[in-house]
Amino acid sequence: MIQIAVMGHGVVGSGVTEILLKHSDEIAKKVHEEIYIKKVLDLREFPDSPIAERFTKNFDDILNDDEIKIVVEVMGGLNPAYDFVKKCLLSGKSVVTSNKELVAAKGAELLKIADENNLNFLFEASVGGGIPIIRPLNQCLAANDVYEIDGILNGTTNYILAKMIKESMSFNDALAKAQKKGYAERNPAADVEGHDACRKICILASLVFGKHVYPDSVHTEGITNVSLTDVEYASAWGGVIKLIGSVKLTDGKQEIIVAPMFVKNECQLSTVDGVFNAILVKGDSTGDVVFYGKGAGKLPTASAVVADVMDCVTHKNERRYIMWEDGCKNDILPFEQSKYSMYVLANAENTDAAFETANNLFGCCERLTRNNPEQSELAFITPVMTYADFEKAKADFEQTGIKTISAIRIAVI
Ligand code: HSE
Repeated sequence: MIQIAVMGHGVVGSGVTEILLKHSDEIAKKVHEEIYIKKVLDLREFPDSPIAERFTKNFDDILNDDEIKIVVEVMGGLNPAYDFVKKCLLSGKSVVTSNKELVAAKGAELLKIADENNLNFLFEASVGGGIPIIRPLNQCLAANDVYEIDGILNGTTNYILAKMIKESMSFNDALAKAQKKGYAERNPAADVEGHDACRKICILASLVFGKHVYPDSVHTEGITNVSLTDVEYASAWGGVIKLIGSVKLTDGKQEIIVAPMFVKNECQLSTVDGVFNAILVKGDSTGDVVFYGKGAGKLPTASAVVADVMDCVTHKNERRYIMWEDGCKNDILPFEQSKYSMYVLANAENTDAAFETANNLFGCCERLTRNNPEQSELAFITPVMTYADFEKAKADFEQTGIKTISAIRIAVI
């Protein structure tokens, strides 16, 4: 029998204990021993839990218990998760976490501590919820030179955008529904402003390119400014708006971004619906590989956590080799140098004259139309240009008295 502890009994944590208790026999068969939850850490009371007597409010009950060999951290947030996880690793316990904020901020450091102590620090659930992605990237695709990853990495925003696209639902109503279903982070700003997706693309980039990418070095835009008008223009253009996390190598640097983008209907990512996530990985040998599944929610995420626990059990005395070095801002291509075509929505008194101005300033643009537009509304797609050039042309465009309402990148996937 191996004894473990679970820190946090929220959405994911309660899913972890549920799966471990419900499937205890099958899991024991697969790992050749029983996994016993000795302690659950949470400040709240859970008198109805079948293991209510094993709850504790005191982290030291876990840290100082030498019989506990694996600790699951599903509290979320950096504090106190970072302190607790570090202490567990330093005291000889392997750690499994679903906490993308922790891995994105402290991954290099915690992996190093795990390595030095011959322990496992696993975090499959931190990206894509129930979708296997960390292990496939690290093992199944290991023979490839993975040169690009593009993904829909946040279930809440994908759910909101899908509601806007398919039901013309308002942003706020869709967010409230996502929260009710337990998809959203404790603070929904982390979802809708793109920080959650940013943490996930940072983890994938760190894993694939071997250097830690810190979230504050990634240009991140959320979906709070995406309007139903933008959604209609995307449809008229032949696509949909998705929040995309993307990383690729350009001139030896990581070109990494999180932003809403127009995605063509032909692209596999365009059909990813609701809370589902999809991650498209480009390898030099495999070509495109897409990982698809539920990216949020109690049991999908808990399933990935429990699988990591099982991996720790079957690899008690050896490390599952996951490692990356520390990184710095110099590894990242400044986002102003990244090149995209841009969708622009503007307001002008004379839209024909404004379109002529757009052609002069941005280069040859494609004008978009939709049913029943406002009289002053102009929408167009620019040629591919650096973001720096786009900003300069946009400033000149606005100097002529035209107001830019939206600017959204066209995905190159
Ligand atoms: N809030 C996250 C999402 C949960 O919506 O994808 C899973 O990381």
